[in-house]
Amino acid sequence: MPWWKEAVIYQIYPRSFYDSNGDGEGDLQGITSRLEYVKSLGVDAIWLSPFYTSPNKDGGYDVANPRDVDPRFGDLSDAKALIKRAHDLNLRVIADIVPNHFSDQHEWFQSALQSQPGSAERNRFHFYDAKADGTPPNNWISLFGGPSWTQVADGQYYLHLFDSSQPDLNWENADVNADFEETLRFWLDLGVDGFRIDVAHGLVKEEIGKDHPDPTGLSNALRLDVDMDTALRNSLLESVPYFDRQGVHEIYRRWRKIFDSYGDREVMAVAEAWVHPPINATRYVRSDELHQVFNFDLLTAPFESAFLYDVISRSIELNATVNALPTWALSNHDSPRVASRIGDHQSRALALFVFALPGSAYIFAGQELGLPDGELENSDRQDPSFIRSNGEIKGRDGARVPLPWSGDVPPFGFSTGKPWLPMQQSWSAFTVEIEKSDPSSVLNLYTAALALRAQHLTGAGVIAWLESPSHGAMREGLLAFRRGSITVYMNLSGQDYAVEVEGQTIITSSGDFTASHIVRVVPACSTMWILN
Ligand code: NOJ
Repeated sequence: MPWWKEAVIYQIYPRSFYDSNGDGEGDLQGITSRLEYVKSLGVDAIWLSPFYTSPNKDGGYDVANPRDVDPRFGDLSDAKALIKRAHDLNLRVIADIVPNHFSDQHEWFQSALQSQPGSAERNRFHFYDAKADGTPPNNWISLFGGPSWTQVADGQYYLHLFDSSQPDLNWENADVNADFEETLRFWLDLGVDGFRIDVAHGLVKEEIGKDHPDPTGLSNALRLDVDMDTALRNSLLESVPYFDRQGVHEIYRRWRKIFDSYGDREVMAVAEAWVHPPINATRYVRSDELHQVFNFDLLTAPFESAFLYDVISRSIELNATVNALPTWALSNHDSPRVASRIGDHQSRALALFVFALPGSAYIFAGQELGLPDGELENSDRQDPSFIRSNGEIKGRDGARVPLPWSGDVPPFGFSTGKPWLPMQQSWSAFTVEIEKSDPSSVLNLYTAALALRAQHLTGAGVIAWLESPSHGAMREGLLAFRRGSITVYMNLSGQDYAVEVEGQTIITSSGDFTASHIVRVVPACSTMWILN
């Protein structure tokens, strides 16, 4: 089995992980110095959010030079040292690649600004003339709020699906294709084992010359923080002129050839592709394209058995149609942390349930501490979506507050300086140091669960549902499946349930073990693994 198929991948947001030089921001040397901790969790790989040269208008997802390290994070020799240390510890390294856009500080964009409309320099981006009335070429709305077009001095506009500092690249341009191939090889030659592809569904645009019939509806439909009638949302997402166009797959077929040319290095790539309907996601993991596609269902799912059963079984089934395994993520740097979103006990139970499923599990640094979102004042917020929407969109800073490592007071060993986002006093209960010494901590739950997963579940094949809305005598809020030698129960209800199954309880999210070997109690709001 290739290493990535059922890997546990730990996402590091470099700015918030560990600061080695006291400037209040995490850096590559800081990460390297903490890799032993990462290894001790029992994960297989790290995914590093961008650390490339960047003015950092969008947390580094605004790349000014994709083949160099931003000074705030160190330099290329630090990147090499990080990769080497990770490999010495038998951890793979996944880099982030951001092909939808560059930063406006990238030399290409700067020379496009100096060049004429229609020039080769402008053709690398989406520069268009204004409409006859001087307004932007179309009515698309940026995902961070406001128009997706910004006008330059000579009257032309350029397209940016995100911040105005993130001009979208034109993937019909040969220079763009060649440059990204060079970037892939650059990092592969430096030793990385794979890529997380940012906005993988966005590279190809259609109908730029046309207005969208409902730009506001579409923009709301694309926002996770806006509630909307599901049928309306689905119909709006069915066809988005700048997302999930057929042309993107040609790009990934070409990239796959590059990955495969590294032979037994087993290079992998995972797509960040928010697409609709869900079956479309499987196109990204056809055998000649990418290896994994993120499944975002659990980032927003309520802690509700019928809902979870539906999204989990659907993801397994859809991936099976292309011979792929699903991915699972409860948190990332773009969404509220799972402990804040669904609650402490619930997030422990859900993590233990998900770690038993087939496929790859992603853990966002800090999730293993049960960390909540940071409580921020508006004046602390830096997310461009907060700035562009005049505060209407709160943004993602809450999930990006630096990690608490040790001690009783902020910044809890993260830095000797002032952390770039404030850390609250109550996080003294969530430090790595304190959780290591507490047998009932989330940290110890994750570490134990990942060890048991490696021992009993990795490679154990399909699941057989035992209790679900469509299997067995479903008790309100009870889900169960068997996989290999393990039976997993998740009790989402507020009452304890007695279950009958032979074997030995090997881990529970609540810490409650029952002695009986046949009838045992799955406590309210908890998950239990039984070795049969
Ligand atoms: C998705 C990234 O995860 C997010 O942080 C970023 O803002 C957008 N893509 C734009 O690059």
